[in-house]
Amino acid sequence: MASAQQLIGLIKSHAEGDEDRFFDLAMQLAAAEAQKGHVRLAEQLRQWADASKATTNRASFSKPTPLATPRGDLAALLSASYPTTRLGDVILPLEAADELAHVVAETRMTEQLESKGLRPRRRLLLAGPPGTGKTLSAAALAGELKYPLFAVLLHGLITKFMGETAQKLRMVFDAVRTTRGIYLFDEIDALAATRGNENDVGEARRILNSFLQFLDEDTGPSIVVATTNLPEILDRAILRRFDLVLRYEMPSAPAIETAMRRRLSGFNVREVDWSEVANNAGGLSTADVIAAAEDAARRSVLGKLSLIRTSAIITSLERRRSLHGIGAVLNAERSSSLHNKRSR
Ligand SMILES: Nc1ncnc2c1ncn2[C@@H]1O[C@H](COP(=O)(O)OP(=O)(O)OP(=O)(O)O)[C@@H](O)[C@H]1O
Ligand SMILES: [Mg+2]
Repeated sequence: MASAQQLIGLIKSHAEGDEDRFFDLAMQLAAAEAQKGHVRLAEQLRQWADASKATTNRASFSKPTPLATPRGDLAALLSASYPTTRLGDVILPLEAADELAHVVAETRMTEQLESKGLRPRRRLLLAGPPGTGKTLSAAALAGELKYPLFAVLLHGLITKFMGETAQKLRMVFDAVRTTRGIYLFDEIDALAATRGNENDVGEARRILNSFLQFLDEDTGPSIVVATTNLPEILDRAILRRFDLVLRYEMPSAPAIETAMRRRLSGFNVREVDWSEVANNAGGLSTADVIAAAEDAARRSVLGKLSLIRTSAIITSLERRRSLHGIGAVLNAERSSSLHNKRSR
């Protein structure tokens, strides 16, 4: 007979509408019964599992994707999407990729973990420079698990009044508990901005603290992903609230080559010297490298070139770097004017 755990898994996956998991579990059950010599039972289980798969496939053609749309006040705080990004789309160092894949596996095996008094990891902090794939990773987790991605709109959350902000945070965490999804608190630096006068610092710190307190509460079946590019945020008090802290880095030479090759698939790059390209990509993020590849590709199309050369890619990388210079100045101006507005 099936174990209690298997039965619970079957019913739970059905109740949650997770048809893929339901099918996998039914097939596992059939295999286990076959091994025990219960051939007829195994065959019947397989037939019914196949039948359920056929119905859901048919149903999914006619039904639109159910999108959990935040309503009322929540609509200003959460933006929902169903990403199709997969973990394989994110170019990461092996260890980081392994950890993310493990988080996905843990979530899929929640029942087995819980039966041994364990829990899957559900609070992640992704830290690193801009354009290195933090937001993309959150989307990939959602894509892998077929969960909705709820991006928390921090600008809607933070108000002049601490009490109001805390109340809004409470609403978001109520949703975390009750609606399963990946909740992305992108750039939590905004919660902990240390710029400004003394009062601002105290205020930002209080908001960050109430975020961390909420994080201590049960997240239900949801995964909370916070991202930051401020290393200062990573003090011990903060780190211990998270089950996993992943550090994102500027791309390595192999990562630069992979990112460019992917973006340039369909173009002739046979003559490109990739180590030369990597030597010229210092200081650029994965996002920059991909943008440079696009730039080189566009130019090759306009120039009706039959192949892309190393020199063309290096020029595009340099163009990207100099654009960055301008971007940095603009950013500094924008944040100082924002700051002036805020302190007025
Ligand atoms: N590691 C990566 N693998 C694949 N693509 C990447 C990676 N990093 C960045 N990209 C590309 O750059 C885009 C921007 O990356 P993303 O938004 O994930 O960066 P981020 O780390 O969240 O940056 P920020 O700190 O500025 O929010 C992605 O949509 C993707 O196209
Ligand atoms: Mg981001």
